[in-house]
Order: sequence, then C-alpha cells, then structure tokens
Amino acid sequence: MAEKTEDKADANIWQRGETTKMQAYGPGFARVYNSRWSGFARQVAPQIQEFYERTAIGLTNRTLLDVCCGTGQLAVHFLEQGYRVVGIDLSQPMLRYAEDNAREYIDTHRAAFIQADATNFSLGERFGLVVSTFDALNHLADEQALRQCFQCVFNVCDGVFIFDLNTRRGLERWNGVSIDDSDDDTLLIIRGIYDGESNKAWTRITGFSHTSDGFFERFVQTAFNTAFEMAQVRKMLLEIGWRKVHFARNGELAVPIDDPEAEGRVFIVAEK
Ligand SMILES: C[S@@+](CC[C@H](N)C(=O)[O-])C[C@H]1O[C@@H](n2cnc3c(N)ncnc32)[C@H](O)[C@@H]1O
Repeated sequence: MAEKTEDKADANIWQRGETTKMQAYGPGFARVYNSRWSGFARQVAPQIQEFYERTAIGLTNRTLLDVCCGTGQLAVHFLEQGYRVVGIDLSQPMLRYAEDNAREYIDTHRAAFIQADATNFSLGERFGLVVSTFDALNHLADEQALRQCFQCVFNVCDGVFIFDLNTRRGLERWNGVSIDDSDDDTLLIIRGIYDGESNKAWTRITGFSHTSDGFFERFVQTAFNTAFEMAQVRKMLLEIGWRKVHFARNGELAVPIDDPEAEGRVFIVAEK
C-alpha cells in the first residue's frame, strides 16, 4: 500500500484565512461523499416530493432548484420523476460528481449544475420547489449569510422552500472522535468539537480512500456548522416574505412541531 501526496486543494481554502466564510468540499472528500454520504439525500427526496405534490403549485409545476446540491443524488431522484432540475454548489469536485450522476439528463437539457454561492446567486429561471438538504445551510457563517441565502431563494421561488438544519442540540453531539473502518476501501477519522461561545461545531475528517489505480489517497476536510436560533430562522423567512413557515421532523414533513430546539435536526417548510 502506498500513500499519495495529501490533497493540498482540500486544505487551501482554510489556509487562505477563509475559514469563516466559504466551505466548498474538496476533491478527496467529494469522492468519499459521493460513494458513502448520499444516503440522507436519497432518503428524504421521495418525502419532499410527496409533500410538494400535495401543494397547489406542486400539482402542475415540476421544477426544482437544489441549493448546495452536493453530488446530486437528490437531483437525480427528481429527474427520474420528470422534473427539470438545477443544482448549485460552491464545490467544483462535488458538482463534477453531480454531473456524472445526472449525465443523461444534462444531455437532454433537463438538468444543469452550476458553481454558485448559496448566499449570493441569481438565475435566469424560476422554480416551483427549492430544497437544501443534509444541513447544508448550517455551513453558512452567520445569520446575515443565512438571510442573504433566503433572499436569493425567495427571488427565484414560486412556491415551496424546504430545507433541514442541525439544531444547537444536534451540534452539541458533534463533540468527540470516531473512526469508521466499516469498509475495506475507506478509513475515516472524524474529530468533532462544539464551541458554545462561537455557536459553531467543527469537524475535521482525515480520510484514506482507495483510488482506481490501486493507491490509497489521504485527504483532510475541515468544515463547520453554525447553530442558528430556530425562532430567528422563522422570523427571517417571514420578514423576507414567505407567507407560511413550519418546522417538521424527518419522515413527517406535513406535521408541524412546536419545539424545534428540542430536536437534533429539523426540517423547515416555507410556502409563498
Ligand atoms: C453536507 S453537503 C450536502 C450536499 C447535498 N445537499 C446532500 O443532501 O447530500 C453540503 C454541501 O454544501 C456545499 N456548500 C457549502 N457552502 C456553500 C455555499 N456557500 N454555497 C454553495 N454551496 C455550499 C458544499 O460544497 C457541499 O456540497
């Protein structure tokens, strides 16, 4: 077994002092994400579709914007169901996997994947449904960034915006170290810390993964999640102009819950 050089691109974004701003995933982690971390997107896609298609706009409008689309597995679900889908993400390596996964739909002009910042984007088309899954919006640095993202989404959305967030309670559970050697091809060492003062949880993933040429490649990915106040999230959405906002649990999107802070993760459903 030989080890290839560390994937410097993964580390660069942190070395440039941008740690509190941008969190594009690097190439080493993107490969592991595509093969092992897409389960959440696959699991929630059908229930988001079911919820949306029971709304007035969802009866006829089959257009989806996936904000922070990652490797595109949620997008592919909707493409298989006949939707037109645009995915945006900051990370080129993640977008490359999304494009590979959705190649046939890109070729028939039903899918497009665009490098863009969730806090500052505009698109030349509108969407019935906008989603952002697997705590992607926890990657935004602060409330101002989250508000900017909500405004960008509002500007292109004709109907429903559904996303999930880790709550403070959920992020407190990031404290600790775990090792995942559950398959022969990848070894992951995951170190997490929750910092109550900055309201951020940090994770540093050191990984060794088998490449197609028989080597093991080492990568390091560091990322943070910001803990947002759920009451403030709701307030911002209403201020921006969403008419109805409710919190819900994974698996029960149509059932509003009263105490989102008591959950580890919540879905937020905003309707125009
Ligand atoms: C946890 S992954 C979620 C991916 C996908 N939504 C899913 O459900 O699997 C977070 C994604 O957010 C992207 N990301 C982080 N900050 C971003 C930003 N400011 N704008 C766009 N994408 C961003 C990362 O590159 C990564 O692909």
